[in-house]
Amino acid sequence: MEEFTGGEVYQKKFDPQAYLEFFKLESDSLGNEAVTFYLECFCKTFTPDFLKGDTLIDLGSGPCIFQFMSACESFENIIASDYVDGNLQEIEKWWKNKPGAFDWSSIGMYVCQLEGNRTKWPEKEAKLRRTIQQVLKCDVNQQNPMAPLRLPLVDCVLSTECLESACKDLASYKAALSNIGSLLKPGGHLVLSGLLESTFLVVGSQKFSILFLTEKFQREALAESGFTIIQYKTQRRIDKEMLDLCDFAAFYFIIAQKGKGD
Ligand SMILES: C[S@@+](CC[C@H](N)C(=O)[O-])C[C@H]1O[C@@H](n2cnc3c(N)ncnc32)[C@H](O)[C@@H]1O
Repeated sequence: MEEFTGGEVYQKKFDPQAYLEFFKLESDSLGNEAVTFYLECFCKTFTPDFLKGDTLIDLGSGPCIFQFMSACESFENIIASDYVDGNLQEIEKWWKNKPGAFDWSSIGMYVCQLEGNRTKWPEKEAKLRRTIQQVLKCDVNQQNPMAPLRLPLVDCVLSTECLESACKDLASYKAALSNIGSLLKPGGHLVLSGLLESTFLVVGSQKFSILFLTEKFQREALAESGFTIIQYKTQRRIDKEMLDLCDFAAFYFIIAQKGKGD
């Protein structure tokens, strides 16, 4: 079993630039497989006919904004968040259009294509910059992940590959589900995606532990935390060469609804 690398290890050792290498679509990167799966799921989910609303919070955003490219078409406000200051600074760099920000245009153009070319990337890019309202520190292991802030309850909580990075064991995963669920309005939606049956992820020269998750456990944990699963989708791993970077067996994508009576 990998030694657990929690928030403090992320804070000291997570290199945003090395992580962003996964998102250079032109390179032969393992990120291609992940990002295309997530983007296709987001494109089908965040539409004015399906998941829409006022505010969406993303937890554990990393240095990334790909997860908001479809969401900005159906949510008015987006809050990005992460535990690692370097990740928040990287998002801010892009948000404020500062020199040296990561170039998301190939992923952006891919999303525009997925959405049927209703908008062109420069237009979507400007809309996304307007829709992001705040970039905040968070910790999914705290009862209130946004503490010391207390935010108004939101319509949607999104999180990609974060809980399996942040949680030490299955008990803390269940606690983190309740923590992040507490940010949602009753009847609000949780959109979770990430890695199944994985134990590690290498970013640059640093290996991070990943909590080994199965579909059975996630279904039980969501039900115990008061969520109803609306969609549970998986896609088996295609790449078998880059097992030294990450040993996941499949990706998952979940849409769940928080109980209305909570
Ligand atoms: C594998 S990255 C995923 C980043 C991004 N969501 C994506 O899909 O590419 C895991 C992220 O979880 C964040 N993280 C680790 N521990 C955390 C915690 N306790 N609370 C919030 N985020 C945490 C890390 O800083 C990192 O950005």
